[in-house]
Parts: sequence; C-alpha cells; structure tokens
Amino acid sequence: MSEAIAYEREGSIAVLKAQNPPVNALGVEVRKGLLAGIERAEQEGAKAVLIYGEGRTYFAGADIREFGKPPQEPSLPDLCNRIEASPLLVVSSMHGTALGGGLEVALSSHYRVAVPSAKMGLPEVNLGILPGAGGTQRLPRLAGTEVALEMITSGRHVSAAEALEKGIVDRVVDGDPREIGLSYAGELLEQGAARRAVGEMPAPEAVDFDAAYAAVLKKGRGQLSPATAVRAVQAAAEAGSFEEGLKRERALFMELMDSDQRQGLIHAFFAERAVSKLPELEGVSPRDVASVGVIGGGTMGAGIATAVLLAGLPVVLIEMTEDAVAAARGRIEGNLRGALKRGKISEAQFAELTGAALTVSTDYTALAQVDLVVEAVFEDMDVKREVFGKLDTHCKPGAVLATNTSYLDVDEIAAATSRPQDVIGLHFFSPAHVMKLLEVVVAEKTAPEVLATGFALGKRLKKVAVRSGICDGFIGNRIMNAYRKAAEYVVLDGASPYQVDEVVRGFGFPMGPFEMGDLAGLDINWAARKRRAPTRDPRERVPRFYEMLCEGGDFGQKTGKGFYIYEAGQRGGVPNPEVAELIARDQAQQGVTPREFSDAEVLRRYMCAMVNEAAKVVGEGIARRPLDVDMVMLFGYGFPRFWGGPLKWADLQGLDGILADIRAYAAEDDFFWQPAPLLEQLVAEGRRFEDLNKAD
Ligand code: CAA
Repeated sequence: MSEAIAYEREGSIAVLKAQNPPVNALGVEVRKGLLAGIERAEQEGAKAVLIYGEGRTYFAGADIREFGKPPQEPSLPDLCNRIEASPLLVVSSMHGTALGGGLEVALSSHYRVAVPSAKMGLPEVNLGILPGAGGTQRLPRLAGTEVALEMITSGRHVSAAEALEKGIVDRVVDGDPREIGLSYAGELLEQGAARRAVGEMPAPEAVDFDAAYAAVLKKGRGQLSPATAVRAVQAAAEAGSFEEGLKRERALFMELMDSDQRQGLIHAFFAERAVSKLPELEGVSPRDVASVGVIGGGTMGAGIATAVLLAGLPVVLIEMTEDAVAAARGRIEGNLRGALKRGKISEAQFAELTGAALTVSTDYTALAQVDLVVEAVFEDMDVKREVFGKLDTHCKPGAVLATNTSYLDVDEIAAATSRPQDVIGLHFFSPAHVMKLLEVVVAEKTAPEVLATGFALGKRLKKVAVRSGICDGFIGNRIMNAYRKAAEYVVLDGASPYQVDEVVRGFGFPMGPFEMGDLAGLDINWAARKRRAPTRDPRERVPRFYEMLCEGGDFGQKTGKGFYIYEAGQRGGVPNPEVAELIARDQAQQGVTPREFSDAEVLRRYMCAMVNEAAKVVGEGIARRPLDVDMVMLFGYGFPRFWGGPLKWADLQGLDGILADIRAYAAEDDFFWQPAPLLEQLVAEGRRFEDLNKAD
C-alpha cells in the first residue's frame, strides 16, 4: 500500500487516510494510493469507502509543484471518475481546507460530511488554471450554475455552513473527521442508501454565458483563467453529456496550463511564501512583541495603529498637542468603524480596540513599556533624529525602534540613538491597515533578531514583509520613480498622459501613473522633485509639465483638478484640456518635436524602465532576490498578479529582447537608459532572473 494513503478496515467500511503533510496535496503517490485503496476495497468486498485526511486538513488541492512537469498516472481526472464509478458507497469527510483537486475528489465521492470549521472552494483560477478534474462539471450539477460560476470564477473559499446551504455537503457535524465519517457511512449503509454520482445528475441550467464571460474578463483586468472557467461551466450546461463536458473542461484546462499567466500566478504563489524565508534568519528568534508604540497620528500613523490594533496588540500613540491627540484618535476610530461596517470586527471588539487597547498621549513616558515603536512623523531628517533621540531616552532596553520613512537614510536615523542595533525601517504603504506590503529595511547595524522581529510583526499583521537594503526609495519607490520617469518622457516626446494611463491599465494595473499621481496628490511628488533638484545630474532630461501643473495649484483629486478634472460626485475624472497646453509649452521650451507612439511602444518603455531599475536594485543587493522585487510590486504597487511581478514578466518575455530595446532607447537618452549590469550579465550567460531565486 502507498505510504501517502493508509488503508484499514472498520467492519464493512474501507478507510483511506491521506498522510501527505503539510497539506495532503494530491501528488502522484496520493493519487496512486487512492486508486489502489478503491480497488482493494472493491476486491475485498467492502460495502463503503471513507476518505479523509490526517493532520491539519483534507486534500488542499493538486500538488502545485507538479505543474508544468510531465504528467504521471493516474491523472486526477481519471482518479475522480474512477472514485465516482465505484459500486461501493464512497464518503468523504472534510476538515481544514478542501480546495481545488481536493474538493473535486470530494465531489466525486457519493456523500460528503464536513466539520463546521472546514473551508472549501475551487481556487484554481488564482493559479491561472481552472478546476480540471471535473469540478466545473460536477459543482454546477450539485449547486446550480449561478453558484458554480460565482465560486469558480472568484476562487472564494466557502464555509461548511454555506456549503451545506448550497447543497455542496450533505451534513456538517463537529468532531474528529474519521469518527464523523465512519458514523455517517455506517448510517448510510444501515439505511441502504443508494450510490449517488454527481456526474449522473441532470445537466445544470444554461444562463447568459457570453455576458458572464465578458463581465468576468473585465473584472479580472485581463486575467484569462476566470473567464475561461466560465466557458467550462457553460459546457456543463450545453455540451450534451457529462463526458463531453469533461472533454471540454480538459481542453480549456490544458490551454491555461500552457499559458504565461499560469506561470506568473504560480510564481506569485510560491514567491509569496518564499519572501519571508531569509537564510540569515535561520535559527534567529524574534523578540517578543506584546505592545506597540506609534509616533505620529496622521494618515500613516493612524493606519499603522489600526493595523496593529486589528492584529490584537495594544497601541500607545504619541502626538504633539492635545488637538492632534484628538484628531489621531478620530482617524483610528474612523478606520475601525470601517472594519466594523465590513463585519471584520464586532461591536464588542470595536469598543475594546478604541478603549482599553488604545492609549493616545502627548507624553513620551507612556512608551516606557512598549516592545516596539514605529515612528511615522513628517519626512524630515532633523525631525526624525529628534524623535529617535527621545525614543532612546524613554524606551526600555531591547525595545525595537522602527522608522516608517519612505526615502530617508535609516543609518543616519539610527545614529541619533545610543542603540543602532535596535533600529530598523518598517515601511508601510498607505492606507497601512489595508495595503499588504511591508518593506523591512535593514540598516548597517541592525541586529539579526531585530530583523526577525520586523518579519514576525509583518506576519502578525498579515502583511507580506520584504527585506530591503538602504537606498533612496528602498525597493518599491525607487523602481516606481524610474517607470514614472519613463512615462513622463514618452509624454514629453509626444504620447498623451491619457494614452499612457490607458495602456498601463490595459496591462492589468488598476491605474496608470498619471491617475495615480492625481490620487496621491501631485504636490507630494512635486516636493520630492524640488528636494532632488539641486543634486540632479545635469545630463538628466527633466520634463517640466508636471511642475507647471502644480505651480498652477492643481494637485489632483484633492483640488478637483490635475491631469484629470474631477466633478463632485463623479468617480473617475475626465482629461484636463489645460494639460495638453502645458505639455506643448514644455515641448516648445525644450525644443522637442512631438511624435506618435504606438500603445505597444508606450508599454514597452514603461516596462523596460521598470525591469531595468528592478535589475539594478537586485544587482546592488538592495533586494536579495528577484522574487523580493516581484512581491513588492505586486503587493504595494498594483502590478498584475497574473504576470507574477516585473522580473517574472521579464523572464517570460525574454531578457535579450528587453536588453536590446533598452540599448536602442539609450541612443536617444543614454543617461536614463543605462542598462543594469545584472541584466547584461544574465543575457551574456543565457540565464534568467528565476535562476537567482533558486540560488538561495
Ligand atoms: N501543492 C503543493 N504545495 C502546497 C500546496 C499545494 N496545493 N498548498 C500548500 N502547499 C505548501 C506551501 O507551499 C507551503 O510550503 P512551505 O512550508 O514549504 O512553504 C506549505 O504547503 C504550507 O502552506 P501555507 O504556508 O500556505 O499554509 P497555510 O496554512 O497558510 O495555508 C492553504 C494552507 C490554505 C492550503 C494554502 O496553502 C493554499 O491556499 N494552498 C493552495 C490551495 C490551492 O490553490 N489548491 C488548488 C490547487 S490546483 C488544483 O487542485 C488543480 C486541479 O484541479 C488539477
């Protein structure tokens, strides 16, 4: 018998127990074991078969690591069909997460029981594929077309209670999965219950599948897998027979399996988990963090405080004046009220989090007992150094002192204390209680356990924490500055900001760079430009239209006008006609003759700038691995997940082509378009960014 599936008999019931930790993924050994178990049960004359999982879960899905490799028999679809065809009564007992292929095995069973905490779903679209073992054919037969479409195209996990209500499970009982499964199977045998094969049920009702396809494609911003899954569900309703439907599902599944988007999404899945695994942290224990201080209660500080409170840690927030204390409290309460409205917390939790768990004060001595402090005050080195001097005086020994600076040198901030080993950067993204990214910035003297503490806090806050070294803008903002510049250059040279925004949205970003600027406030970037102006290299091309707009008092959404005009009550903006005049004036002053850019060229320049800067960030060791950059861009900047991140995208496009284009652009501007040495090296060696991820 296979080691991955244990076989035993309980009277007339054959019991198949999955034992493939950590998540009982349906790798080849598990599939072989299930097949052998069913066959043996039939040969031995058992009357029923119980399938359940040992450890934390029933099957959490196909083994994702097998994707893209040569298939090994038995395939999951064949196995599911074989389970369903068994003349014995097959019962699945679910706990933990029954996902993807896992739920498909359960759907091929004749009866399903689950514990109340079990979650189930068909999340394949999030991996760039669709349920390929009959899920798109069986779920609509069992729960109806609408339910199946919603679950399959969203990949949402449903609770056992919801699954019961929708007819996906037959019974929900608290208890040990083996015991409740045995008892249910025993009961069914006693009643003489019939075998009940979902594949033999009538075809589900047809709906307007073309409309569903279009809606899903639009919602996914070009992600193909959910839309393709609509076509597979359509086959359940329209293919004529279950077998024909399965064939259609298989064909669509294979189409997606061969797609770049599948590679991008699988990369994102594993990178999201690898990003917090740093070799330097092996064996290093984080410091205990039972309470957190926050300095500054503006949008960022209040957001950080909210995130910390929602993670169950008490917060001490320091502001400068009593008015500011009240304002900070108001902001945090507002954030928490939002969480209450969305059902994330209860009334009682709201009262607790805004009551006993939150202290807001003007007095630094209130910080005496906190284990970690995050400073989120005005972006000015003198102000930050003064705050850190105070933290040094008031915080207990061993407290972690973190700065939320976006650009400033953490080493210089650390030097304002007598304990630079305790100082680290924790760069949150606004709104901090919503955005998933946390850059953990390591300064020269940061102690390993302080770095480990930063990562542990990130995990506690359910954020994706990425290690960054020190440079202007760290990983994310530095790369963003580069691609934003590329966007401004194409506009100076003749493209319109609206063309750029549309092209960037077409790629899958939620917003283009000019819409983004309007949303964030153009004045913020204007201030950074003014700060950098004195040290700017004279070879740098400087578009002026952005500043001209700001000089006219137009800062974007907050003033009602920027690159777009925002009518009150309207969601999006319409192009601001004055912008074209400013650009024309800028072109005239700089002696630029505008030319047309195709959408493809706009995108290519934008992406090449992003990849080139990302390669510099990795080459300089600011990011340890390409996957670190990919995760920063995915979780902090809206990079479409289905491309995996800019460096995964670059691998998929081919690095030699990207380098060739960068060199061609350098003929116009060899200051901005200096190829990253790492990119040149990889091309020369015929390697890809992916190879550097594996090296660690
Ligand atoms: N295949 C291979 N490895 C898997 C896996 C899978 N399906 N699911 C999880 N793992 C691995 C993770 O990579 C991780 O490995 P490391 O410890 O080496 O990093 C480990 O199992 C634990 O996973 P998590 O850290 O994610 O643990 P968690 O408790 O936070 O989450 C989970 C558990 C909800 C199951 C989550 O891992 C998850 O969502 N997994 C993916 C589930 C999924 O998408 N299933 C569908 C697969 S596709 C399919 O089934 C296609 C088909 O029809 C043929």
